[in-house]
Amino acid sequence: MTSDASLPGSDQMSRGNRDSDMLAAVLALPDQLRRAAVQPPVALDSAFYTNLVVLGMGGSGISGDVAAAVLSEECAVPIIVVKEGGLPAFVGKGSLLVAASYSGNTAETLAGCAEAMRREADIACVSSGGELLDMAEKNGFPIVKVPGDMQPRAALGYLAVATLSLLAAAVGISIVEQVREAIEILDKLAVALAPGAAETENSAVSLARKMVGKVPIVYGGSRVAAVAANRWKCQLNENSKVPAFRNEYPEMGHNEIVGWSDGNPLRSAALLVALRDRGAENPGFDVALDISREGAAGLVEISSQGVTALARFFSLAYIGDFVSVYLALARGIDPTPVEAIGRLKSRQ
Ligand code: PA5
Repeated sequence: MTSDASLPGSDQMSRGNRDSDMLAAVLALPDQLRRAAVQPPVALDSAFYTNLVVLGMGGSGISGDVAAAVLSEECAVPIIVVKEGGLPAFVGKGSLLVAASYSGNTAETLAGCAEAMRREADIACVSSGGELLDMAEKNGFPIVKVPGDMQPRAALGYLAVATLSLLAAAVGISIVEQVREAIEILDKLAVALAPGAAETENSAVSLARKMVGKVPIVYGGSRVAAVAANRWKCQLNENSKVPAFRNEYPEMGHNEIVGWSDGNPLRSAALLVALRDRGAENPGFDVALDISREGAAGLVEISSQGVTALARFFSLAYIGDFVSVYLALARGIDPTPVEAIGRLKSRQ
């Protein structure tokens, strides 16, 4: 890892250096939501489901986490997210299973989808192509096709709105206001956090600088913030190519705070990021952060914006997307390729 925390200037970035694909994709997130929101609704088979299941891994699977967090306060049936090829025993007739795979070729998602077919669950697919799309077309499953030629994690706007729309439609919940508010907030953040923005005011650049040589540990204090913390972790792993960890309050208050106590020397490597979601936060998060921050390299707090759950999620997650790209640049690496994931998939 380089110790040089300097970042390329905005001119260099806009000339299209090697980060350009990922940075452009990050900047395009509000547009993804805009485009996804005007897709015609997909008709589902049943009027009533006893449970909703999202099946997906990594950058696609997180769309299920987002949908579950956003709908959980209103949805009367359980929503679970499955991130493996096996399905829980209750999945079958009466289930709606949304299989989300950007590439459409992920082994676990294909295996789980085939199992859901055998169990006669209703299936809908979110994908840009691959075997999953073939399977959907052959069997007449409803499909939301998302634009191709991107990294799965860079397509979160498309994937999350598609998955959320399918689940929301299945239980008769409107997400129109949620998407509208998310777009409004993301448009403003895209301007404030873009490379051309004044560096003294660009909180994503300054946080990326602080993270060089540290291990980021991201905490969320509410359900929505916990999903955003996971998105931060995954973006830091894949874009910045650094180890990063996440946890959520209140669970972290029942174990993790002990690991940081008693002068453990490892603490000095940890840069803590707290994703605050004050209206919805579990009480006690402040105390847990106070205990955890002792001896850590620092604690940075980021507050959600907006009222709706989707807007609050994206307002927290979006800053992490920018930080992860700027950290990659600070380390002198290309945020886009994820060679280790390719190696794993080729051996599955
Ligand atoms: O970000 C990535 O590339 C991964 O986390 C992928 O999303 C994951 O491997 C699953 O692939 P897919 O999203 O194509 O189903």
